[in-house]
Amino acid sequence: MALWGGRFTADSSNMFKQVNDSLNFDQAMATQDIQGSIAWAKALYQAGVLSEQEQQQLHSALEDMLTQAQSGALDFAASTEEDIHSFVEAELIEQLGDVGRKLHTGRSRNDQVATDFRLWVKTHVLSLKQDLVQLRRTLLNTASRYQHSILPGYTHLQRAQPIVFGHWCLAYVEMFKRDASRLDDLLVRMDQCPLGSGALAGTTYPVNREVLANELGFASPTLNSLDAVSDRDFVLELLFTASTSMMHLSRLAEDLIFYNSGEAGFIQLGDSVTSGSSLMPQKKNPDALELMRGKCGRVFGALQALLVTMKGLPLAYNKDMQEDKEGAMDTVNQWHCCLCMADEVLQSVTLNEDRCREAAMKGYANATELADYLVGKGIPFRTAHDISGQIVVAAINQDKPIEALPLSELQTLCADIDDDVYAVLNVEYGINKRNNIGGTSFKTVTEALYRELEKMDSEEG
Ligand code: ARG
Repeated sequence: MALWGGRFTADSSNMFKQVNDSLNFDQAMATQDIQGSIAWAKALYQAGVLSEQEQQQLHSALEDMLTQAQSGALDFAASTEEDIHSFVEAELIEQLGDVGRKLHTGRSRNDQVATDFRLWVKTHVLSLKQDLVQLRRTLLNTASRYQHSILPGYTHLQRAQPIVFGHWCLAYVEMFKRDASRLDDLLVRMDQCPLGSGALAGTTYPVNREVLANELGFASPTLNSLDAVSDRDFVLELLFTASTSMMHLSRLAEDLIFYNSGEAGFIQLGDSVTSGSSLMPQKKNPDALELMRGKCGRVFGALQALLVTMKGLPLAYNKDMQEDKEGAMDTVNQWHCCLCMADEVLQSVTLNEDRCREAAMKGYANATELADYLVGKGIPFRTAHDISGQIVVAAINQDKPIEALPLSELQTLCADIDDDVYAVLNVEYGINKRNNIGGTSFKTVTEALYRELEKMDSEEG
């Protein structure tokens, strides 16, 4: 059924339908469209536009359709309707005749789609928040599994200073907490109901928009009808949040890919999240992680695409805006899958603790501690710095950490060095000195871990 029959004498061309129709993707908003219609029918009854009997007929037909939508029983493939709004209306008209033809009174697909898509975003944001919670929990569990392990920390991809393994896990916990809070923020901002804005100028019927907003679970109605039908900021905010979080996932993936490499050998990934090579039998490739990194392209692309789509649009609604959905729907799906994938990968990780420790020690991060030790023996800092540097060179030449050099050898470079130097050179010594808020000492990391676990428990109530 074309929605604009009266003014037209010729049918749409096939190519026009192919470009214009959106049912094949906006069918994802079927439940939201039906819920919106249920609320609208109620509002029309309260405004005296529909009789009680008409409202009840619409209500029960829509409730049936809702059940069918939820069980996947609606046959979209057989339909030639343009979009989900005309699909739902056509079904009603087929069932109820003229009563079905009354539902669209005072409403436009413009305020309808703005409402449906907000409801769709809200539902998905809530489940993405759950995904983020689950990933945080797994990061915390991973940290607890290896509470006594250390990892070489890097800057410029050069070994810099040793850190506690859990410190690395907790860094990502911070990022995913921020992502969740961005979702909370956007939920608050988008919590306004556009229904009742009409095509652009508002509705002529005396529907109570406060009650309508409430009925659909929104905090309040939108305050300007032109803005209400034209605003897609909530989609952009979702896409930005998804992009930022995918960037976090990508960095997590990149770290793990490197840790898993033959060169680093810090972790092993489980068989269930890696693949083999069809040619090289020895290979175990981190495909899951590479795809988490790779899928950033399409997610960042969707954000860029919608910004470009929106930037030149005059107020109010323009059909360009129908392009808001596919990118956002794909993004939500990819982000959800990548959050779950990251979760599985982390659960499969085995840390090669000895190898990590050895690599951390070979980073010569304790050269500063050695210089400070020499200062403690009364040597001026500049001289201590030189001596420590010479000792590092000697250790590098033998491919050993400083603490593997015997005391006799250390004493040939500086006679003031004693046996007590080894306590200072110990890798844990440097780690545990970094015990201020946010630092990597075992004590700070363990405290942070328990604090985060408690926070999660209280959030989950
Ligand atoms: N399918 C359209 C969309 O997604 C619904 C709104 C159509 N409005 C209109 N005036 N043609 O944007």
